[in-house]
Amino acid sequence: MCLEAMRRVISITAHERWRTYIQPMSTTNNRAAWIQGPSAQCETTPEGALLPWRLILLGAPGVGKGTQAELMNRRMRACHLSTGDVFRASGSRPDCEQSPAMKEALGYMRRGELVPDSTVWEMVRERSGCLHCSGGFILDGFPRTLGQAESLKELMDHEGLKLTAAVNYTLPFSEIVARLAGRRTCGRCKAVYHATERPPKVEGKCDQCDGTLFLREDDRPESIKVRLEAYERSTAPLIEFYRSLGLLLEVAAKGSPDDIFESTFTQLEARRVREVAQKILVAQADRCE
Ligand code: AP5
Repeated sequence: MCLEAMRRVISITAHERWRTYIQPMSTTNNRAAWIQGPSAQCETTPEGALLPWRLILLGAPGVGKGTQAELMNRRMRACHLSTGDVFRASGSRPDCEQSPAMKEALGYMRRGELVPDSTVWEMVRERSGCLHCSGGFILDGFPRTLGQAESLKELMDHEGLKLTAAVNYTLPFSEIVARLAGRRTCGRCKAVYHATERPPKVEGKCDQCDGTLFLREDDRPESIKVRLEAYERSTAPLIEFYRSLGLLLEVAAKGSPDDIFESTFTQLEARRVREVAQKILVAQADRCE
């Protein structure tokens, strides 16, 4: 590798302009195409990022994936795509508007069991346009089985989309149960609170849209137990899957949501700078030869 190539990498990664490509921005997205289906149009889509973040969030139910995805959406522009949100939105539609597959999926969900891969994959495949969102994406709650992870990899390889990282959040079991039991969700905008850790300003009301907060049906103790067992059995193996692809990033989910976000973002940013610097070095070295 020649000295000139080395100098170029240092000057590019240290340059202020580079920071603007990876700096957090504050843009949100209404996710209509994801939540309501591909025929719906999002009201706002983020302007194209030079290097969009394409992330998968892993971790047990209640570890705080949705909370982090919301912060990432606001600060990194990438769209928050949660499969659980799609099922819940469909459950709130009139009975006659629900397909038999969706009714069946809601039954699994209420019991805390995983929805069958075929139903989940059909739903994600229909919405695969969202994976091309110019602002990038944060997949929350998908993939959840090896089968789903393999299907997603195949689709992304086929569409020429590269995953940035799979972030795995970890937290002791007792704290996970406390987070789930205290969770309150807004029925209108889906914002998430915690009865004691992140309470709304007015009890039972959403700070953002004044919607009514409710306790999710699957946050009852009997469903929590089933969900945690399903996680251990089916989702935990994904940690090794993404580690073997060199995409895994482990983050302790302790501390405030903002601290966890900062820790995640710092690691993601460092990883991205390393990757880009390496690519520039290789390209420059090729030219020097
Ligand atoms: P889904 O909606 O994906 O739920 P989940 O993965 O079980 O995750 P949760 O939403 O329960 O928790 P979270 O990690 O997002 O935590 P949150 O940020 O809310 O799936 C629900 C169901 O749908 C599944 O059980 C399944 O049936 C079905 N399903 C969905 N996708 C599927 C798929 N791909 N395959 C098969 N089935 C599928 O935080 C939890 C609480 O903690 C909140 O109150 C929050 O305010 C609080 N909190 C968060 N961070 C902190 C912090 N740092 N400190 C203190 N409190 C915090």
